[in-house]
Amino acid sequence: MSEWQPVTIVGHGEPLLSVSDLHTWFELRQWGFLRVGAVRAVDGVSFELARGESVAFVGESGCGKSSLARTLLGLHRPTRGEVRFAGRSLGGLKARELQAYRAKVGYVQQDPFGALPPFLDVRRILAEPLIVHGVKDRAQRDRRIRAVLDEVRLSPAEEFLPKFPHMLSGGQQQRVVIARALILEPAMIIADEPVSMLDASVRVEILNLLRHIQTQRELTLAFITHDLSSVRHYAERIFVMYAGRVVETAGVKELLDHPQHPYTQSLLAAIADPDAANATKQREIPGGEPPSLLHPPKGCRFHPRCPHAMAGLCDVDEPPDFEPRRGHYSACWLHR
Ligand SMILES: Nc1ncnc2c1ncn2[C@@H]1O[C@H](COP(=O)(O)OP(=O)(O)OP(=O)(O)O)[C@@H](O)[C@H]1O
Ligand code: SF4
Ligand SMILES: [Mg+2]
Repeated sequence: MSEWQPVTIVGHGEPLLSVSDLHTWFELRQWGFLRVGAVRAVDGVSFELARGESVAFVGESGCGKSSLARTLLGLHRPTRGEVRFAGRSLGGLKARELQAYRAKVGYVQQDPFGALPPFLDVRRILAEPLIVHGVKDRAQRDRRIRAVLDEVRLSPAEEFLPKFPHMLSGGQQQRVVIARALILEPAMIIADEPVSMLDASVRVEILNLLRHIQTQRELTLAFITHDLSSVRHYAERIFVMYAGRVVETAGVKELLDHPQHPYTQSLLAAIADPDAANATKQREIPGGEPPSLLHPPKGCRFHPRCPHAMAGLCDVDEPPDFEPRRGHYSACWLHR
């Protein structure tokens, strides 16, 4: 059988971001020098994102979502493969060009408090990227800062400008992080679990805010989450990740209404029944732990947990991407 070959899934319109055969492996060394192996955090991922499109990457903890995000941001160098932004390969960018690229891609992290420098007030936090990118005029900076605070609904600005991160609630801190991501007028935002550390009461507010800004500014939004139930209103397409790979992709409604991959089906089953008595049973459907990315299973990586695994096939050969429904891709031998 042939090696797994990821297909390129094309979004609507001109691609802003093209990712092909991306691998981000982390070398693991004992005592700092003895090579143990490589953690294959991202292991053969290809996709394209259109301008103005909102997509979600979903998968369990440790499947490589943040490693993918950080590679897209140019914070990890790919082990193999390529990231192209507006037609240019990140690998070919010089240090200054990479800095300019980072201005075009805003980053919203999971932990807003950890993301904000504790000894700077909001005014300084938002001024810093402008100064670094050469906005010398103080009045101009001030106008931009006030406009962006207004956009993230931290108003009146006077109230928030002198505050330090510890003086803000978690939701307000995340609004400052979003404001900082927006201040350089990016074309794309990568939001890595933007609400998972916030109180349930403010999660929807922050997600609605991100979606509102994305549509208003026609931004490309890559929204990373482990919670499949939260994506319906915030993304147009979903990429389901498992053990460093994308195993299923489709439009959000199509994927949630007609999940094709057994892993996605098990994720959905786990959230389908909110009844506490059934929660344990439902969560047992995927069974066991996600695999080690140091030694991923041969064949389909999901086979040790899959209720439909076929001996002699799934544990031997990696499934390619099939298209069981129009525009709906799933890497599973059941569709052969
Ligand atoms: N800098 C690093 N060095 C070595 N291993 C790393 C590094 N960053 C991530 N990993 C490993 O890569 C794998 C994927 O991690 P990653 O943080 O990308 O997963 P994730 O899907 O974002 O998980 P979570 O939902 O918990 O945030 C994990 O096994 C992790 O331990
Ligand atoms: S390829 Fe086999 S093991 Fe993998 S998800 Fe499909 S049926 Fe399950
Ligand atoms: Mg993560």
